[in-house]
Amino acid sequence: MPAFHLEIGADRLATLTFDAPGRSLNVFDRAVLEELEATIRDLAGRREEIGCLVFLSGKPKGFIAGADLDLIAGVTDRAEAEAGARFGQRVFAAWEALPFPTVAAIHGVCMGGGTELALAASYRVASDDERTRIGLPETQLGILPGWGGCTRLPRLVGLTAALDMILTGKGQRPKKALKIGLIDALMPAAGFLGHVRDFARERIDRPRKAPVTGIRELLLARNPLGRKLVFDQAKKNVLERTKGHYPAPLRALEVVRVGLEQGREAGFDAEARVDADLAVSGICKNLIHLFRLREAAKKESVEGAEPRPVDAVAVLGAGTMGGGIAQLVAHEAEVPVRLKDIDAGALADGMETAGKLFRKLQEKRRLSRTEAARRLALITPTLDYTGFGREDLVIEAIVEKLAVKQKVFAEVAAAVPDGAVLATNTSALSIDAIAADVPRPERVVGMHFFNPVHKMPLVEVIAGPRTSPEAVATVLAFTQRLGKVPVRVKEGPGFLVNRLLGFYSVEAMWLLDEGYRIEDVDRALVDWGMPVGPIALGDEVGIDVATEVAHTLHAAFGDRLPLQPWIGGTTEAGRLGAKSGGGFYRYDGRERKDPDPRVYELLGLEPRIAEPDARFLVERTVLRMVDEAARCLDEGLVADAGQVDLAMIMGTGFPPFRGGPCRWADSYGVARAVATLERFAAAVGPRYEPGDALRRVAEAGGFYTASGGGVS
Ligand code: NAI
Repeated sequence: MPAFHLEIGADRLATLTFDAPGRSLNVFDRAVLEELEATIRDLAGRREEIGCLVFLSGKPKGFIAGADLDLIAGVTDRAEAEAGARFGQRVFAAWEALPFPTVAAIHGVCMGGGTELALAASYRVASDDERTRIGLPETQLGILPGWGGCTRLPRLVGLTAALDMILTGKGQRPKKALKIGLIDALMPAAGFLGHVRDFARERIDRPRKAPVTGIRELLLARNPLGRKLVFDQAKKNVLERTKGHYPAPLRALEVVRVGLEQGREAGFDAEARVDADLAVSGICKNLIHLFRLREAAKKESVEGAEPRPVDAVAVLGAGTMGGGIAQLVAHEAEVPVRLKDIDAGALADGMETAGKLFRKLQEKRRLSRTEAARRLALITPTLDYTGFGREDLVIEAIVEKLAVKQKVFAEVAAAVPDGAVLATNTSALSIDAIAADVPRPERVVGMHFFNPVHKMPLVEVIAGPRTSPEAVATVLAFTQRLGKVPVRVKEGPGFLVNRLLGFYSVEAMWLLDEGYRIEDVDRALVDWGMPVGPIALGDEVGIDVATEVAHTLHAAFGDRLPLQPWIGGTTEAGRLGAKSGGGFYRYDGRERKDPDPRVYELLGLEPRIAEPDARFLVERTVLRMVDEAARCLDEGLVADAGQVDLAMIMGTGFPPFRGGPCRWADSYGVARAVATLERFAAAVGPRYEPGDALRRVAEAGGFYTASGGGVS
């Protein structure tokens, strides 16, 4: 079946419709590109018949999603990667050289190769549909726009706007696209095709004029010093954001510079060469793997179970988590939310949290003032259970005390309709125990958000031993509706993320006990790519809360997770972390300053090791996570290594470029990990003894060969 369909009208207005067979979205794979090349060759000979050609998508969901990721994920040979980039460039160069004007008509998502095709058209128009986005997300996947994007974009929108798009990978909304000159016209989504045809008809036989560049950009292009300033600033921003761990944006910056300073041909050549270097790198493969895991999580469902439609939600507890959850539900699902607390003050604070989050969205122009007000008004604060007779889903986020949760679940079960699903946001308590006094406990399920709710993408969806597939399906589908990434986990102490994080964090505390300095431990892990060090993380979470979790895990895992006698000792002195203005670190407001030396004294510690080996500190902490990941997989807590990696990256910020703890362990070598752990067991203590689970993973040749990665 062909992917491209050509129609030529009597008025010499032609349309070329791209409708990739068997796919819900258009992507460029090898076969499609070859067909496009042949189509363009044919079009080039039809100058007499065609006065203007409109390029359209046949998919209702979007224009073009970009290149088929299989092309990039599968390539390991650099020369092959370079040839692939040059092939794409050749097709788009032929498209650009057609002897009549062309119009790319963008409705919905237009990404990567789709944007590069549009850039090589004579004109670009876009619909004002809510879903329309035009972007070059390649650097987020560890590559760069290598089909002409790095070279053509700055010539169209100017250097500053081009760098912004290429280096951040962010998609532009159509209004912004018009403003920066990325598109020539913005059209109503209703009757889009008619508007496009009118636009194209006026351009029959009219060659494209050179893009209009703003005066500032003109000056910039002609002024090497000004240009240097822009490049230097962009580089600084990238380094701040990526800490040097992500080569793609830095190399893209160089390619853009070559294209501007040495001309188009040199630019295309640099694109192909550098793109090939990047495409075969481990970092690119890790980022693509992560992207696919995310995409798969968005589509996951429970076999044989239908989710309950959710038209009304109740959130119990208006504290740190509850306020954020209520706001998220009102914003993303746009359904009525009842926010219940037992304390009027807490309720007011929760409403204030939600209000603030909506105001931020308004400030960022993500929502209009009326829309923000409408969504906020979906949240009704309440001190009792009135109106609960209509709820489809209850999300509980009250204090982390089992007896209180049990009582509240029994109460709420009596107030809601029979089929309603009851979810708990508990950090570590047993789902089954929480359901103890609930008639038909199969409707109780875990829905574990991460703090802060609006920022952290992960939700652990936890099935207790009695939880029904329908309850899991409902929470899974609703998590997807909220735009979050669900990972399904079975019940167990700390579930998946807090368990792995617990082993890692407690080990960091042992390093302090051995005489390492707070700043050295944290710096080693931040330099390795963690968003914050493990000790600073304890300050962020709250030392009281983190200690509580450590005790829960210790109760479950005993000698495998011994705790320091001094753990939590700062809390008695009122040092709870950032929230109390002091923890292991000093704070200025909420801003973390340097470690507070008084903490050593308070805990009876002696920082005496100067200039430690950073790699040793990383291995000491991260390998404990790895060993625990093998145990979780062995216990069937989570489906496969891909889910572990996805959860740790989305829930804790484990460095995406390292691919997650399992994928990182595979590249480090699992047999080597076992050997290192054995060495630590002899030198540090028996807690390091690697489990049989990890030994089996080593024998199988790694996590991904042992358990699979979760994406086909
Ligand atoms: P919080 O202490 O900030 O808020 C709890 C709220 O629940 C308070 O406003 C309290 O008045 C209210 N409450 C107490 N009993 C109630 C009842 N019977 N009915 C209705 N409301 C009641 O607690 P936070 O931090 O929001 O935690 C809530 C839950 O979320 C806990 O289970 C916690 O383990 C979990 N969680 C917390 C995270 C965090 O970083 N704080 C992260 C993920 C989960």
